Amino acid sequence: MVHYQRYIQLRKGVTVAAYVDEEDACVHLSGFNKRLKPKLVFFLLFCTLLSFCLILAPHLLPLPTSTLSLLYPSGAGEQESLSDSNTHVCSSVSNGTMCCDRSSIRSDVCVMKGDIRTHSSSFSVFVYGTKNSGAGEEELRREKIRPYTRKWESSTMATIGELTLIAKKSNASSTDDHHKCDVNHDVPAVFFSTGGYTGNVYHEFNDGLIPLYITSQKYKKKVVFVILEYHDWWITKYANILTHLSDFEPIDFNGDKRTHCFSESVVGLRIHDELTVDSTLMEGRKTIRDFRNILDKGYKPRIQGLVQEEQRENPRSKNPIKLVGKLEKPKLVIVSRNGSRAIMNENLLVKMASKIGFSVTVLKPGRTSELAKIYRELNSSDVMVGVHGAAMTHFLFMKPGSVFIQVVPLGTTWAAETYYGEPAKKLGLRYIGYEILPRESSLYEEYESNDPVLRDPNSVNDRGWEFTKKIYLDRQKVRLNLVRFRKRLVRSYIYTMKKRNEMVRSQ
Ligand SMILES: *[C@@H]1O[C@H](CO)[C@@H](O)[C@H](O)[C@H]1NC(C)=O
Ligand SMILES: *[C@@H]1O[C@H](CO)[C@@H](O)[C@H](O)[C@H]1NC(C)=O
Ligand SMILES: *[C@@H]1O[C@H](CO)[C@@H](O)[C@H](O)[C@H]1NC(C)=O
Ligand SMILES: *[C@@H]1O[C@H](CO)[C@@H](O)[C@H](O)[C@H]1NC(C)=O
Repeated sequence: MVHYQRYIQLRKGVTVAAYVDEEDACVHLSGFNKRLKPKLVFFLLFCTLLSFCLILAPHLLPLPTSTLSLLYPSGAGEQESLSDSNTHVCSSVSNGTMCCDRSSIRSDVCVMKGDIRTHSSSFSVFVYGTKNSGAGEEELRREKIRPYTRKWESSTMATIGELTLIAKKSNASSTDDHHKCDVNHDVPAVFFSTGGYTGNVYHEFNDGLIPLYITSQKYKKKVVFVILEYHDWWITKYANILTHLSDFEPIDFNGDKRTHCFSESVVGLRIHDELTVDSTLMEGRKTIRDFRNILDKGYKPRIQGLVQEEQRENPRSKNPIKLVGKLEKPKLVIVSRNGSRAIMNENLLVKMASKIGFSVTVLKPGRTSELAKIYRELNSSDVMVGVHGAAMTHFLFMKPGSVFIQVVPLGTTWAAETYYGEPAKKLGLRYIGYEILPRESSLYEEYESNDPVLRDPNSVNDRGWEFTKKIYLDRQKVRLNLVRFRKRLVRSYIYTMKKRNEMVRSQ
């Protein structure tokens, strides 16, 4: 598979560079629709959660025609302007009309109220005003929207269906003649797409599930999801979470030609920042921890089932649920990568961590790994260690108060902090960014010790995206300096034991 990259001129002076590696590229085809469908589902199963990385590249390159990307704003200062800060736009919409908030750089959101009727064969949603003196219909307003949260990435957005929203004046009897409701819903609808980058764990949480939570939680599950680029596998994969966001069956907008009627709908998802929820913009001051609580509730039945199964198969094995408190060793999980950005001396790392006193698990989240099982592992762990990449998204499965050590390869510092380090702190994790030294990089064997590749990664990143990608992302492995890394592990161990003692004392 090919590697993809691209840059986007977001607006004057802001260049966004973007990067996806092969697994993401294959995932990305999910945006390309019907023709591919049967093969696609099969294909998507093979798309890994693990590998992608984003890198900042400050120079403009020509935009390849068919490309994929991830966001890389050109500096942390841009972060603020990417926030969906305007909560008041569209907060009151009068009956029979709509309002579109296009103020966020990440996503557009339209709100409709009144007599809303879907018309999927023309990719439209109508809202009819109640009063009209004549028999005819009069169009009041028309808006176009692609309900996906990567608005600044035009080539990704081009794979998302564009809905036309139309507000019309029309009296009830003529509307019923022309556009009859097949299904009446007495709860609101939220329209969004599961196309785009769906299939990569970072994107599924960052672009999809967290924005879906942000947009829909105020309805307290009394909401219907209407999904563009609907994928059965997505529904299956996230069923545990979706049932805690909505009490109703989701609707496949492209596939279901019936007219669905609502009295309120939100088209598009709100998004705040990378892998987080900004409580100041939320009704009820909800936070990323509340989102995590939904994961916990969602995965609980499946995890309990797994525990029972294990007990049935092996009745004498100790009950893992009972074994908590002082007696159990602190648990450390290594979220392992294979290939680029792998830890070359992982075996030694495991031995060292065990010697310190950790019970160590090596987790390889695979393309088809069940999320409940990963959740179970991480939710019961005290420390998570991994090298920067999409799989770091799993920090969301760690309990607030636990430790996350991200190993940061040369040339990836900004990305590692922006996409995972900062969001992890917002969740309440104790975050340690372990920036490797040149000697800990496999690149040390390839370049002279005074080469800018080792000494000054920023200058290499400045030379252009191609360099960043080829040098730092695709070819770099890590050989940890265990003496140096050990300090972080010991600190994490002491921190964990102290926390446990405090918990025991406070009981
Ligand atoms: C809004 O319009 C719908 C349909 O036109 C109507 O049934 C409903 O009663 C109206 N609601 C309000 C609050 O006016
Ligand atoms: C609504 O339209 C019908 C024709 O479709 C017309 O007969 C009727 O008078 C109209 N009602 C109102 C209140 O204008
Ligand atoms: C996650 O861990 C917490 C604390 O140990 C526990 O209360 C909770 O039940 C666990 N969640 C699941 C789904 O097992
Ligand atoms: C790593 O990936 C390569 C190629 O995908 C595979 O041949 C190899 O067995 C993998 N190694 C491990 C330890 O999984």
